[in-house]
Amino acid sequence: MTDRLEIRNLHVRVEEKEILKGLDLIVQKGEIHAIMGPNGSGKSTLAFALMGHPKYEVTEGEVLFKGENILELEPDERARLGLFLAFQYPYEIDGVPLSRFLLQAIKARRANGEKLPFGEFRKRLLENLKKLRLDESFATRYLNEGFSGGEKKRAEILQMLMLRPEIAILDETDSGLDIDSVKIVAEAVNALRGPDFGCLAITHYQRILNFLKPDYVHVMVDGRIVKSGGPELAHELEAQGYEPLLRELGIELEEGAQRPSKEEEKEGVA
Ligand SMILES: Nc1ncnc2c1ncn2[C@@H]1O[C@H](COP(=O)(O)OP(=O)(O)OP(=O)(O)O)[C@@H](O)[C@H]1O
Ligand SMILES: [Mg+2]
Repeated sequence: MTDRLEIRNLHVRVEEKEILKGLDLIVQKGEIHAIMGPNGSGKSTLAFALMGHPKYEVTEGEVLFKGENILELEPDERARLGLFLAFQYPYEIDGVPLSRFLLQAIKARRANGEKLPFGEFRKRLLENLKKLRLDESFATRYLNEGFSGGEKKRAEILQMLMLRPEIAILDETDSGLDIDSVKIVAEAVNALRGPDFGCLAITHYQRILNFLKPDYVHVMVDGRIVKSGGPELAHELEAQGYEPLLRELGIELEEGAQRPSKEEEKEGVA
């Protein structure tokens, strides 16, 4: 089967340190997967490596999508193939209005110079802004500049809605969102749900999963998936934390890799 994202034995190094240590995961289109895991376990590293961030050096393994080893592709080629990443910490780009950024991103995403008439673009932009309860004026502001934490996360989802990816990687899109916004964002993701859309949602919290209803939940520890299950796994983790699982698996966390602090936990569901 080629219409799935298949990660095999992925090893990734950042600044000479091995972070991903043989990660295997298959995301089939039509499925929603959640990845949870202690801070520093390598979740964002996986997201960046999948999109082709040059700082993340793949030393072993392969990632297949649509029959191609995407590790050989540039980030823009991966986006054209249908991959999308919503950043955990979205970048601010001064001087580039959000609407212009979206238009350019859509042009870059479309292969063979396929055109999107401006009227159609504007119609879709307005519809999606509305879906995310963002004011129209939002699109005229510079990308993420001065956006609140939650607005930045919703702007990431706006990009996803405009680009219509086939596999979306959402890196803690729920962190920093207020209770209503978590629901709004999850509904926007759910609206894409269907046989042509797969999602890998990285999160620390159960709350967004109540709305996303993932098919699978995975736990990442120290650069590997150590346990996979259904939505009940996220409930177990929320109730008990990672310690019982780590004990059961005989894993000791390295220094610096920990569960989120109480403050971070509060922030994530505030
Ligand atoms: N660009 C980088 N430079 C140096 N170290 C990095 C870089 N990116 C990641 N790391 C290190 O790799 C490890 C994994 O980081 P990563 O951001 O992938 O964790 P995470 O699972 O996303 O954590 P969190 O839940 O806190 O977001 C950490 O120890 C981090 O310091
Ligand atoms: Mg992260």
